[in-house]
Amino acid sequence: MVDSLIKDYQAKLDSRLDIILSESGQLYDEVLRACHYSVLNGGKRIRPVLLLEFYKLCGGNDDCAYNFACALEMIHSYSLVHDDLPCMDNDDMRRGKPSCHKAFGESTALLCGDALLTEAFSVAAKTMGIPSDRVVKAVAHLSASAGVAGMIGGQMIDMALGEDADDNVLFDMYRLKTGALLKTACAIGCILAGADDELVSIAEKFGEKLGIAFQIIDDILDCQGDAKTLGKPVGSDEKNNKDTIVVRLGVEYCRELAKKYTDEAYECLGHFDGDTANLKALAAYLLERNY
Ligand code: IPE
Ligand code: IPE
Ligand code: MG
Ligand code: MG
Ligand code: MG
Repeated sequence: MVDSLIKDYQAKLDSRLDIILSESGQLYDEVLRACHYSVLNGGKRIRPVLLLEFYKLCGGNDDCAYNFACALEMIHSYSLVHDDLPCMDNDDMRRGKPSCHKAFGESTALLCGDALLTEAFSVAAKTMGIPSDRVVKAVAHLSASAGVAGMIGGQMIDMALGEDADDNVLFDMYRLKTGALLKTACAIGCILAGADDELVSIAEKFGEKLGIAFQIIDDILDCQGDAKTLGKPVGSDEKNNKDTIVVRLGVEYCRELAKKYTDEAYECLGHFDGDTANLKALAAYLLERNY
């Protein structure tokens, strides 16, 4: 069920992203080729799927929210391009292909990330068929979540983390570097559909819990996964001497922890009137995933 749900969304998202990132016939097209390469390469599209599912749950007609969903995937993809750079995690593979800097060189990869981030806001702003006050509110949510008090802040903590850091600092890092974009996906779906602030904050809580579970599983897969299935290297954290919660507390305990966060996320869904079966199935799938 989840597989076909994700595949349906993927096909619609990919055809739109393909158009958004098509070449323009200009001298600078290499950066567009790098963007297209880094976005249209088989990502799971979890964040846009969450956005669209929450949008539908709150009564929206999903066609109108696709532009915004694409913008969110562009920001996530930019974070991966920069995350792989030699000055960050220095990883050579992403989504089953050479990382952007391996295929296009470091300077183009840097500009590709910048381009995806900047163009994402242009794409989001072009949302049609949704009242503009909701779009503005959603753009503000997206920029705050991708910014310093969100994903960027989490990546900064990740880079600066010392061995003596408290476990809570690691959880704060997960909440920001990964949780922030999942949280904003869920919140934006509700905001665009015109849900009230109470439901938006419940969706935020769901996304944040799911985000922490998601990063714990990512860290487990980095230790135990299969590089070919994952489409990215295993052992990246060890290579970079990354202090993860999995290194500290062990795989078995962390699996339980990811389940606990996922259960807490489930509880949030009880506050919504509509059908939450897809979101529940998605959360269960993310816990069991092997890529
Ligand atoms: C990878 O995210 C980076 C993390 C935040 C852990 P995904 O696992 O969603 O990567 P793609 O988009 O499917 O490649
Ligand atoms: C990624 O964390 C967080 C981002 C914001 C990109 P990781 O560095 O663990 O992600 P992967 O394992 O490279 O996908
Ligand atoms: Mg990283
Ligand atoms: Mg990485
Ligand atoms: Mg990882």
